[in-house]
Parts: sequence; C-alpha cells; structure tokens
Amino acid sequence: MAGLFITFEGGEGSGKSTQIAEIGNWITARYPDIELVITREPGGTVPAEEIRKILVNGDKNKITPQTEALLMVAARTENVHKIIRPALDRGAIILCDRFADSSRVYQALAHGAPIEKIDQLHAFGFDNLQPDITLYLDLPPEEGLERVSRRNSDVADDIETESRFEDKGLGFHTRVRDGYLTLSRTFPDRFHLIDGQQNKDAITQDIIDIIARKCEQFDDR
Ligand code: TMP
Repeated sequence: MAGLFITFEGGEGSGKSTQIAEIGNWITARYPDIELVITREPGGTVPAEEIRKILVNGDKNKITPQTEALLMVAARTENVHKIIRPALDRGAIILCDRFADSSRVYQALAHGAPIEKIDQLHAFGFDNLQPDITLYLDLPPEEGLERVSRRNSDVADDIETESRFEDKGLGFHTRVRDGYLTLSRTFPDRFHLIDGQQNKDAITQDIIDIIARKCEQFDDR
C-alpha cells in the first residue's frame, strides 16, 4: 500500500501554513478513513525541531552557509526516517511544509552551494526520496517579506520571531524566487506553480484541482 507525498514550497510569507491547514481539512472530509500526516521542515521530530531553533533564530551570519546546509539535511533525514517513510509505508497522505527543494533553492541556488552537493547529501541521508507532488506558492519577495514583517510586528518583544532567514535581505530572497522558478522548469512533472497573489480561497481551489486527480487512488480503499 503506497501513500502520497505532497510538499509545499515558497518564499517567506507565501501562505503555505494556511493552505496546508485548508488542504488538510479537505482531505479529511473527502477521505475520512485515510491517515493524514502533516509535518514541516526544518522540524517534524523532537530532535529536528531542536535543529530548527539553531537554524531560524539569531543572527543571519551566526553559522556558515555550509553548516546551514548540513543542519537542514540532518533535520530532513530525521523527518524522512522517523515520520515520512513510515507514513508512506502505512498508505498515508503526507503534507510536508517544505522539503528537499527548499535546500536546493535556499542553500544552493540562493546561497551558492553546488546543487549536486546538496543532492549528494540527500542521497546519503535518505536515498533522495522525491515528493509525488510539489505545490509552489509563487509571490514577489517584496510582498512576502512585507507580510512577514507585519506579522512579526504583532509578536511580543520577548518572543523569538524566527526571522534569521528574513534578515538575509531582498537580494537573497529574489534569488530564492528565481531558484524556485528554475526548479519548476527542472521538475515539470511534479512541480506546480501557483499564483500566491490570489485570494486565499482561490489558491486553495487551485491546489485542490491539482491534487484531486492524484488522490483518486484512495477512492476505493
Ligand atoms: P518556514 O518559515 O517556512 O518554516 O521555514 C523556515 C526557514 O528555513 C525559511 O526561511 C526557509 C528556510 N529553509 C532553508 O533555508 N532550507 C531548507 O531546506 C528549509 C527546509 C528551510
């Protein structure tokens, strides 16, 4: 029994978490007997969430880009072995907030690490498992960063806002968007570009249109 592995990708403030919640509700309503697993990266397991804290908090230059890449892949390796692969083997539908494409884009295409080296790390960690479907929410980086800074301004001063990556600046985040557009041409079969500037419901509908056909395999389970 094979499950379905769906990943969500996008720049800062692209609305992934909101859409994952909406799509989770849609899946649960349509397939109440199919197990749904929602996870995120970096994170998803207790040790990987510990690694996340190192990665997303603090000064943008506190670790080298190489360390950043290794920690991202380390957290992902935990998530694949402990959460994603077992769930796929049980026949679950998995919604993952970011996956290997985030490292290809942020650590390779935006930060300058050779993409082949990142994929060698993925091969070492978990045989380069690939998603069945990747939903990329595309948004101009100016707009995404603006959304995030509005969100952070509502957070109390003594709470950490996970803003280490936002602090890398507009140039970096423009390279992130260009990187995602490059990947959408590299993996046309699984990579779906969604206009993240639409209203929330229109985005959800676009995603449902894409995943509904893939979910048909669960109709007679
Ligand atoms: P999030 O805000 O979407 O949870 O992601 C946290 C940050 O980590 C975000 O700025 C993107 C970055 N990131 C990478 O740079 N490489 C990765 O492989 C992953 C999973 C996230």
